[in-house]
Amino acid sequence: MDVVKLDLGKDSYSIYIAAGLMDDEKLLRSTIKGRKVFIVTCETVGSLYLEKLKKVFDGFEIDSVSLPDGERSKTLQNLEFIVGEMLASKHNRGTTVVALGGGVVGDLAGFVAATYQRGVDFVQIPTSLLAQVDSSVGGKTAVNHPLGKNMIGAFYQPQAVYIDTDTLTTLPQKELSAGFAEVIKHGILADSEFFAWLEDHVVELLQLDKKAIGHAVKRSCEIKAAVVAIDEKEKGSRALLNLGHTFGHAIEIAEGFGNWLHGEAVAVGIVLAADLSMRMGKITGDEALRVKSLIRKFKLPVEPPSTIPNEQFIELMKADKKTTDTGVRYILLEEIGRAGIEDDVDPDLLLVTLDAGSRLCEI
Ligand code: NAD
Ligand code: GLY
Repeated sequence: MDVVKLDLGKDSYSIYIAAGLMDDEKLLRSTIKGRKVFIVTCETVGSLYLEKLKKVFDGFEIDSVSLPDGERSKTLQNLEFIVGEMLASKHNRGTTVVALGGGVVGDLAGFVAATYQRGVDFVQIPTSLLAQVDSSVGGKTAVNHPLGKNMIGAFYQPQAVYIDTDTLTTLPQKELSAGFAEVIKHGILADSEFFAWLEDHVVELLQLDKKAIGHAVKRSCEIKAAVVAIDEKEKGSRALLNLGHTFGHAIEIAEGFGNWLHGEAVAVGIVLAADLSMRMGKITGDEALRVKSLIRKFKLPVEPPSTIPNEQFIELMKADKKTTDTGVRYILLEEIGRAGIEDDVDPDLLLVTLDAGSRLCEI
């Protein structure tokens, strides 16, 4: 088993990673302090893993909810629904909320835990690749508002994260690819050797070779944990983790939540960020092409939908919460393995990037 520590003083916790980890009852039970457990999951994941998890917690008082799959479930209405279910089953401050599922379940269940009776314990059991390499780590919890992604939420850290990489064997190919967008992001922003290793292991990773996937998950968690440990509440450098996200969120909103997978939108966002970085002279055309090519090899889209007019794209980026008082904050590449925050982007260059369409990164 690999263990990655997230060092946040009294809020520190461990991220446990192993194939078959959900069979380790002793470990999973070790973080539950009280007698009550409330499991939040979604329909597909629940049908595959909920009974198994209930057996792990045999002896505890267990209740659960299973929400419809996907981004459309990440709503304030569902928060209220879950709170209602918890109150009806007499859950109290001794309850531990367990998130069993992808990033949607994790973000929503985490926000429930942050707010239920002013805060209860919370553990993450992420089952999608995206959740294992990104969303379960670092304590960002939220629901969406019709006017913006993750607009209502809290920083609230779990007691532990339990990653069973065997759950990825049931994940649909498209969802697996979406998770690789965040893995590639970590290589681009923090570790050029990891990026090169990804370039060399595309086939093994897409086939879920145990050694390769274990390494990709562990290295992603290490990179994210190191960034979060320095800047938990995103006052500065944590914003680097948003590489590709301001572009990506604009796509998700313009196309309607759930119509593009989050990871797919982020993949295109990373290509756009690379393209803009190249046009601003920060990286070479070869580097931008390496980024685009790796994203394509993981079967991810590399072009934004042609249906979003530039003016709408820019307005949606301005509405993203990563804007400052003065405008959109861009995360751009300085080189493969290093990113930076840029508040001052020439609007004409941005338009060229958005107009580039299928020519992205190819001048
Ligand atoms: P998701 O939670 O919708 O899961 C994707 C799909 O895969 C769902 O249909 C789910 O039922 C299915 N699934 C999950 N695990 C499965 C398994 N093992 N077997 C079969 N099917 C499985 O989406 P996601 O991509 O996991 O997460 C996206 C969300 O994460 C977005 O809302 C995004 O905003 C959020 N996010 C949050 C953070 C953060 O730091 N909190 C970071 C990145 C993304
Ligand atoms: N996904 C960005 C962050 O966790 O900060």
